[in-house]
Amino acid sequence: MQFKILILSFLVSFILEFNLAYNDYTWRDYYPGGTIPSDAFSPGNDVNGNPLYIGQVLIKKNHSDIVPTTIYPDEPVYGASYGVKPADNFVQILCSQRPEYFTWTRTNSTDLHLLTNSLHFIRGGVEDGKWLYIGRVNYQGDIAIGKVLAGNIGDALMYFVYKDKELNARSFDVLTYNGNNVLDINFRSLPN
Ligand SMILES: *[C@@H]1O[C@H](CO)[C@@H](O)[C@H](O)[C@H]1NC(C)=O
Ligand SMILES: *[C@@H]1O[C@H](CO)[C@@H](O)[C@H](O)[C@H]1NC(C)=O
Repeated sequence: MQFKILILSFLVSFILEFNLAYNDYTWRDYYPGGTIPSDAFSPGNDVNGNPLYIGQVLIKKNHSDIVPTTIYPDEPVYGASYGVKPADNFVQILCSQRPEYFTWTRTNSTDLHLLTNSLHFIRGGVEDGKWLYIGRVNYQGDIAIGKVLAGNIGDALMYFVYKDKELNARSFDVLTYNGNNVLDINFRSLPN
């Protein structure tokens, strides 16, 4: 009996560890103003040298969309979705045990789709039934994270929130992943 329990607990811990090891990146729950997880992935620092983070938020007003956005530690989180909107109850933060597998690829709104066969873009959300990728721009000496409208082939603008304004960019960096451990293997099929 005791032996069986021992085997069982060994199996359970093995499965848990296997699962943890399997995902190179994950979205964790985040409470705006709360503690930043120790493995949160930072896309860079703000003008004052403080690390920023990548969030994924639900915007319920008008649409119910999930959009990627900048997380400023200790501040409320907003997303760009037909204007600047506050995040609803769902806020997640991008975390990774293997940040070396992340790459920022420079591209623009006209050329983004030419890269989709060769690169694995990290999905940052869904808006109007289309996947959003995670974009990064340098803006006024700062950086900002926002949504890239991956579904608009040839006109895939990036939208982001910066100091209470919704802005867009035609040239930006997109977050890509070059490891093999992915669960979202069907990432290229867009929902209809
Ligand atoms: C609501 O969504 C529509 C597009 O479906 C948009 O044109 C409109 O500006 C949005 N309104 C607000 C208040 O976000
Ligand atoms: C996008 O990048 C390509 C390749 O660098 C360039 O030829 C094209 O003019 C760029 N388009 C825009 C809108 O910046």
